[in-house]
Amino acid sequence: MIIKNAVLDIVCGVTSTLPDTGMPEVAFAGKSNVGKSSLINGLMNRKALARTSAQPGKTQTINFYKINDEMFLVDLPGYGYAKITPAEKEKWGKMIERYLHTSKDLKAVFLLIDIRHKPSANDCQMYEWILHNGYEPIIIATKLDKIKRSQVQKCLKVIREELKLTKGTKIIPYSAETKQGRDEIWELIDSLTGQ
Ligand code: GTP
Ligand code: MG
Repeated sequence: MIIKNAVLDIVCGVTSTLPDTGMPEVAFAGKSNVGKSSLINGLMNRKALARTSAQPGKTQTINFYKINDEMFLVDLPGYGYAKITPAEKEKWGKMIERYLHTSKDLKAVFLLIDIRHKPSANDCQMYEWILHNGYEPIIIATKLDKIKRSQVQKCLKVIREELKLTKGTKIIPYSAETKQGRDEIWELIDSLTGQ
């Protein structure tokens, strides 16, 4: 995909009606702070269109970034953020669930996992949820630059085993620092959205 144009087009809060965009959408899910917004910036070749933060809990809405007036990258709020009340957590969970459940144009859901860490119970639940909604999850192992090259295969194996990935499930290592993995992710998005 050659990025000619990228804009934050739609922002949905917990009470918003979800949009019917009529264009292919791909969504990015994962724990708070895992690097969803950073990945979206990397994919769009933008430094800070999607707001990122070293503090978890930055993205609290579902943000739809329109690319070239033809498709959307969808930034989901992160889960597992400790500083919100159980009631808020529940609302966010419902919002994400509602989106996965009702979007007519959602073509793929990417699940981001920090390459350094064993997936959490929430990660496993999210993986199941994506499968349950009829999508084939694609795993992105983020923050690749934070580990030694010699550790990569071992870390990917831990993720694969902990999430109990089916054999054909793709797992793509990515670094927002070096942009390694970017082209592979775009190739997948292009094929999934029929570009
Ligand atoms: P929420 O919006 O809170 O759900 O977080 P998020 O998943 O959108 O994470 P975000 O992109 O805001 O990144 C969180 C922190 O991790 C920021 O300080 C980023 O700079 C950093 N970060 C993200 N990706 C990478 C990466 O590939 N490598 C390194 N070294 N840091 C990263
Ligand atoms: Mg974010």
